[in-house]
Amino acid sequence: MIKLIEDLRQEANKKLDPKKKGPLGQFMTPYPIAQFMAKLFTNKKKVKLLDGGAGIGSLSLACSEVLKIDKIVAWEVDPVMISYLETNFSNLKIENEIHHKDFILDIVDRIKANEKPSFTNAILNPPYKKINQNSEHRLACRDVGIESVNLYICFFALAIKQLIDGGEIVIIIPRSFCNGAYYRPFREFLLNTCSIDFIHSFGSRSKAFKDDEVLQENVIFKATKGKQQGAVVISQSHDGTFKDIESREVPFETIVKPNDREYYIHIPTDDVVDSEILFDKTLRELGIEVSTGPVVDFRCKEYWSFEPVENTAPLLYPNHFTKDGFRFPVVFKKPNSLIRCPDVDKWLMKAGDYVLVKRFSAKEERRRVVAYLITKDKLDYPMFGFENHWNVFHIKKNGLSRNLALGLTCFLNSTVLDDYFRVFSGHTQVNATDLKNMKYPNFEKLEELGKNYSEDMTQEQIDNLVMGL
Ligand SMILES: C[S@@+](CC[C@H](N)C(=O)[O-])C[C@H]1O[C@@H](n2cnc3c(N)ncnc32)[C@H](O)[C@@H]1O
Repeated sequence: MIKLIEDLRQEANKKLDPKKKGPLGQFMTPYPIAQFMAKLFTNKKKVKLLDGGAGIGSLSLACSEVLKIDKIVAWEVDPVMISYLETNFSNLKIENEIHHKDFILDIVDRIKANEKPSFTNAILNPPYKKINQNSEHRLACRDVGIESVNLYICFFALAIKQLIDGGEIVIIIPRSFCNGAYYRPFREFLLNTCSIDFIHSFGSRSKAFKDDEVLQENVIFKATKGKQQGAVVISQSHDGTFKDIESREVPFETIVKPNDREYYIHIPTDDVVDSEILFDKTLRELGIEVSTGPVVDFRCKEYWSFEPVENTAPLLYPNHFTKDGFRFPVVFKKPNSLIRCPDVDKWLMKAGDYVLVKRFSAKEERRRVVAYLITKDKLDYPMFGFENHWNVFHIKKNGLSRNLALGLTCFLNSTVLDDYFRVFSGHTQVNATDLKNMKYPNFEKLEELGKNYSEDMTQEQIDNLVMGL
């Protein structure tokens, strides 16, 4: 069976229109992953199965191997996929319905027509693609109370709405919804309607879907509608062969922190549980704040000064931090400085020692969190401007003490922090909210790091300092 479905998947993959692959999110599930997902269901008998964005039907086929299915209902829009889907389903000898329809629009219509949820199980590898404010999918979902910025969230939420109480959903999706403000309404909906039973994470999406160049990290989620939340099983494997799978049970509070109004979903790995014990202070407890760089350059074009002439303040961009260290001024498309005046001064911070973390790291960059230190000694100006591509650590818009700034930079650049950060961040962006929600070493430990850290240290030296705490 595996060989046959895998051959069909490769064959269909070649026939798909490359231009539609991205917009329709056509990254088909390798069969071993489909089988792994199917086995997660505990509802095994009298199953009415939903398969939204069914592709060639791999997920339903895998379910048919392990579940007693009364009926499969599938949705698919692509004619190439549908022809394979029909053939595959006709071989199954299970009652089925294939809707050649847009899953999102069709389900929204059904909900609006007051059709009752009827599915016991739902299995999905939905398309994922950002959707903008005016997309028909986004507006349709809003009509039934679902706020979404990505197609996969529309599929996830609508599938949950189609489940009966006690119905189970198994879904493979990017982990980006686990944090970030845009996904908050969905997280709230998910946690209010379902219990999270199981989360599997992979090394990287590119490994799980090796035929397609898909970069985002993905997770397999199993949730049950209307079930009381209990402990959560967490498992991990390097790739989609599951050869090195490890799993364990963790209390729900490890996944979603009590009182977290952002409903961040943390997916712990062994190392990270340890680091949460090591780092136990919030920024607020440390008296430090973190904000997005307040200067949005295109909004103050009239004050741009390409050269740092008299009566200007430096406007710091990531470009000022080169592999050879801090350079100011630099030659680039942006202004090095802003002309000072009351309108500009309100965006500036007093000269001091600040820790800066880039908001956007390149996909190929090894680290997610990259921190830099800017000090009074490096820039002889009374005020500093921090451009919007930064997150800035400050104390009431003033700098930190030298030791604290050094210690914080060291901590933020450590491998253990980067691993910890990845647990709750599925995307390459680093937002100020993410940095606010993290835990940090206590003041004494940061000071201790600060005493021993210097900016020219190698990764190994930084890691040795942090692990020695
Ligand atoms: C990520 S692929 C997964 C396919 C299949 N479920 C699997 O696991 O191999 C997503 C599928 O959803 C289909 N699709 C995309 N947008 C859709 C929509 N709005 N309604 C129904 N199907 C859609 C695509 O054509 C594609 O086959």
